[in-house]
Amino acid sequence: MSFSAAKGLGPTPDEGAPVLPPEYLIERPRRLRRTPALRRLVRETQVSRDDLILPLFVVEGSGVRQEVRSMPGVFRESVDKLVETCREAEQLGLPGVILFGVPETKDPEGRAAWSTDGIVQRALEKVERAAPGLVRIADLCFCEYTDHGHCGVLDDQNDVDNDATLENLELQALSLADAGAQIVAPSGMMDGMVASIRAALDEARHDQVSILSYAVKYASAFYGPFRDAAGSTPAFGDRATYQMDPANAREALKEAALDVDQGADMLMVKPALPYLDVLRRVKDKFDVPVCAYQVSGEYAMIQAAAQNGWIDRERAMRESLTCIKRAGADFVLTYFAREMARLLKA
Ligand code: PBG
Repeated sequence: MSFSAAKGLGPTPDEGAPVLPPEYLIERPRRLRRTPALRRLVRETQVSRDDLILPLFVVEGSGVRQEVRSMPGVFRESVDKLVETCREAEQLGLPGVILFGVPETKDPEGRAAWSTDGIVQRALEKVERAAPGLVRIADLCFCEYTDHGHCGVLDDQNDVDNDATLENLELQALSLADAGAQIVAPSGMMDGMVASIRAALDEARHDQVSILSYAVKYASAFYGPFRDAAGSTPAFGDRATYQMDPANAREALKEAALDVDQGADMLMVKPALPYLDVLRRVKDKFDVPVCAYQVSGEYAMIQAAAQNGWIDRERAMRESLTCIKRAGADFVLTYFAREMARLLKA
């Protein structure tokens, strides 16, 4: 065979088509993996600081910064400390934070959730002043605020009463928008929640406040450490009558379609890693930004294995976030946000 044929330059005119020996016909994808620079050149997915939202837990008091036992590196902070964390997040180049309140008093309805001087309401005002560049997202739900730990008002069967809960959700949304939330994120999986929150916000001239719907939220074992952090474990039963069955993917598309119809500006799939197929399907079907929540249990698994020396933490963090993006997430809510941002900045 001629030199040019072996190099893949095609036959020379007088030779006709070359007959290549089999070893030349093997595809060699490894050619593009030979050096770090080559690999960088052909990399399809990049995680950037712009993609990461930091979840934060606010508690009463001052000077409080308690580490969550099952989430090393994650803290419950009083407003003063939380504000410092937000400043740091802004300096690290993160685009936003999502706040979860851990109130001191709980009752059957979760009334503290829409109190003008509620814990998240106060935090939002302070964060707006201290770190004005951050997008302020407020989670909307009642499980941290109810004494029974369910995500709404209970009916006489001890199931969550959907429509009674919608009324309270409207109050919570308005209260948090008044306090300066730019995005509200209903996470309770009530039917019709996006429509009723949208109507309430519009009526109160909060038409610029957007809705990030936890449209596709599964009844997952991976929320365990969050419930530790937020004190929101249900006192009885589970959340299977409102959160989705992990076995269902078609139903996810239905939930997403309903929320888009009702005016959701963005959709969320949660948890992330065990549901990447669902994330991809939602992303392919809807033309709104889609995010994923790498939840507390996903974080805790990596931290725990790393503490045992069984896994390389930094690599597992990078890989998981890269794969969540590759599967279709426009951005990711992750407890690794600050650490990842530091790594990307370096
Ligand atoms: C509130 C809410 C939960 C999470 C986010 N919002 C807990 C739950 O549904 O029990 C979980 C987040 C995490 O695990 O990191 N409904």
